[in-house]
Amino acid sequence: MATANASRPATPRRVAAVRSARRHEGARITVRRPEFDFSDTPKYWFLDNAFLTRYMDGMAALFPDGEMFFVNSVRAVRDEVTDEALQKEISAFIGQEAMHAKAHREFDAYLAQTGLPIHDCEQVAVRLLGLVKPLKSKKLELAITAALEHFTATWAQRLLTHQPSRDRMLAPEMRRLFTWHAIEESEHKTVAFDVYKAVGGGYPMRAGAMVGAMVILPAALAYIELKLLRHDRQLFNVKGWAKGLWYLFGPTGFFPPTIPVLFDYFRPDFHPDDHDAGEAFEARKRELKLDEMAVAQGA
Ligand SMILES: [Fe+2]
Ligand SMILES: [Fe+2]
Repeated sequence: MATANASRPATPRRVAAVRSARRHEGARITVRRPEFDFSDTPKYWFLDNAFLTRYMDGMAALFPDGEMFFVNSVRAVRDEVTDEALQKEISAFIGQEAMHAKAHREFDAYLAQTGLPIHDCEQVAVRLLGLVKPLKSKKLELAITAALEHFTATWAQRLLTHQPSRDRMLAPEMRRLFTWHAIEESEHKTVAFDVYKAVGGGYPMRAGAMVGAMVILPAALAYIELKLLRHDRQLFNVKGWAKGLWYLFGPTGFFPPTIPVLFDYFRPDFHPDDHDAGEAFEARKRELKLDEMAVAQGA
């Protein structure tokens, strides 16, 4: 899985060697502009299961505004970044996240047409991330972005390496949307972290932001899940819950292998390059023909 490097001790020499050999998974971050047609998406496109589908729909509802928060937090400090290569990565990061926000906004518009209160769910991201605005700390906002980017990169790498999870997406367009997004999250996983370091961000704030993310993000996802299942009148579908919880948290489920990777963020010499999707990264890129889709080169 995505933790091939984490199984070995993270000595400074090994970390330096990994970074010099492979600055980040993509080596070059590519901005792409895929088009999606969601019109044939079945109501329960994830394993024909309400719990799992609404979990994914709810998570995706956090993306548009969450990703624009990421973009703004990096953009707010980019004048302080003197490294030319990192400046190019910032441009590509902004381009990729803007495309993700656009694609997910389109999917949310489709869901809203079906009557789902998805725009209310989008507001959860707006309200939560808005809580830090009064603190007027660019560094804290960047620390939050770096923490949440570790979540997205970790879950992305799990999706890229875990074929059953992709197979369970019964709608090909949804599989394409999430796989494309996962590839790009893996490509730009280092950017916010490196910018945070470049502008003098320290360990206590970085770790504190991750503690906050670990408490608030799962709570937000649970709140949205309950809201959407109640809307669908599926709140008491015990069989659906059991199946969904098994596929997410069971011994062969999606989340268990991601937990130690998330906690690895607390290691003082952690770097996002310490984890990757291995060969699955290039394999998924080939399957989606992403190299034919580039619109701009970031580096
Ligand atoms: Fe993204
Ligand atoms: Fe991202």
